[in-house]
Amino acid sequence: MNEEQRKQQQQTKTKPNLEKDYSKYFEHVFEPPNLKDARKRGKEDVQYHKDFKIDERFQGMGKGRKFYIRTYGCQMNAHDTEVMAGIFQSLGYEATTSVDDADVILLNTCAIRENAENKVFGEIGNLKHIKQARPDCLIGVCGCMSQEEAVVNKILKSYHNVDMIFGTHNIHRLPEILEEAYMSKAMVVEVWSKEGDVIENLPKVRDGKIKAWVNIMYGCDKFCTYCIVPFTRGKERSRMPKDIIDEVRDLARQGYQEICLLGQNVNSYGKDLGLDYDLGDLMRDVSKIDIPRVRFTTSHPWDFTDNLIEVLATGGNLVEHIHLPVQSGNNEVLKIMGRKYTRESYLELVRKIKQQIPDVALTTDIIVGYPNETEEQFQETLSLYEEVGFEHAYTYIYSPRPGTPAAKMDDNVSKEVKSDRLQRLNKLVTEYSERALSQYVGETVEVLCEGTSKKRDDVLSGYTRKNKLVNFIGSEELIGQRVMVEITEAMNYSLNGKFVSIVEQREGVEV
Ligand code: 5AD
Ligand code: SF4
Repeated sequence: MNEEQRKQQQQTKTKPNLEKDYSKYFEHVFEPPNLKDARKRGKEDVQYHKDFKIDERFQGMGKGRKFYIRTYGCQMNAHDTEVMAGIFQSLGYEATTSVDDADVILLNTCAIRENAENKVFGEIGNLKHIKQARPDCLIGVCGCMSQEEAVVNKILKSYHNVDMIFGTHNIHRLPEILEEAYMSKAMVVEVWSKEGDVIENLPKVRDGKIKAWVNIMYGCDKFCTYCIVPFTRGKERSRMPKDIIDEVRDLARQGYQEICLLGQNVNSYGKDLGLDYDLGDLMRDVSKIDIPRVRFTTSHPWDFTDNLIEVLATGGNLVEHIHLPVQSGNNEVLKIMGRKYTRESYLELVRKIKQQIPDVALTTDIIVGYPNETEEQFQETLSLYEEVGFEHAYTYIYSPRPGTPAAKMDDNVSKEVKSDRLQRLNKLVTEYSERALSQYVGETVEVLCEGTSKKRDDVLSGYTRKNKLVNFIGSEELIGQRVMVEITEAMNYSLNGKFVSIVEQREGVEV
């Protein structure tokens, strides 16, 4: 939907049906989310804009003011925070790492599970004292939670210290939202339920000079039955290949050592562009750029093509680590989850990947305690874990998300049983992680050195190509470089090693 269409829609929009009369808020910007609209997948063409600029009337808005953003959740949120930091800086604000001297505090929230949301509500509560002491300080809630009707209603009702709520599709409107919040006494709410256009030239302040996130697509159309993301992030919209490649080239020129291509479901990349160009093609093009390491996240096993496996098997700067969320090892559960693959087809995909990339490290995400999951079904998750031999997993107890199909299902699995399954799964995960780490002892591996340890200045740390954390003794000049480290010891979650040498720059690749 373009801006013009959106304006027309706004004009015909009826006021939301809230439990209470919040009419005082309508004097100002008041556009709360609506899950029904968020579910829709329209056929409108996505417009690509390169003309973002900060309106002159906002110039200097942030002079003498500081901003603070607390980020929850996934890499997408981390990257959105970098964009918001870029907008703040363009407005003249300065960053601060303390809420106590911030003039604007933003909570960039995550809606994936209930406990993520509870943390945010706790934090909004904690910020009450700041608002009392400094009423001029603006407090904002953005990110995925702000896309949920129930959350917005709860904040309107009970968290009057919040000055503004804006959604994941409204980030580029931050200057306008701030201005409204400064001018109005009521809470400013601007949450577009339907995704917006792709805006290419938003400013960014990246967190560090070593690793960078690069968005390749926004949104998700998979609608796994447990997941809130397709509602909070809108329909799938891929960036144009050239825009992505230009961004990666620019990062390479700036000396970045590692990039991670980001999307909620990167394997769908390109489908909406109609260009006959998929993630495999993109990875092939990115592999030719002189950036030492390239990762991508997150994958969906459904669309993991042979083309992609073939490209990843060429190695080079494409690392041999694939995060491939499986969620469950049982076919009935997978079906109810709407994952659209089976245990057998997942195992077949793993077989193909291992055949072509023998050295691959596979990690995964698993949900236990899905509504009505039986012990036998859970056992199949454990056996699949062993069969694949994952090196690590992020494991979760299923959390009902209001508005998703799974949240409406009856559930006969008790909390205790769910916790017990999580514990048993985690035991297996730890066993496999430790086994994977112990295999490194005696090997010399490439580590991208990212910084010093919190406790000791002479202890450096970084990650291997397979994403294993390594600590070693060395001087600070090594930070930002790739180094060879001989692994001497495996700890529970990391490796210890001895510095051996600095890795030479690659040659003969285009920038
Ligand atoms: N409950 C528990 N875990 C969830 N995830 C997504 N939605 C839910 C939910 N409702 C997990 C999935 C996904 C990861 C990012 O979060 O495992 O891969
Ligand atoms: Fe959620 Fe990922 Fe499924 Fe999309 S593919 S609905 S983001 S779990």
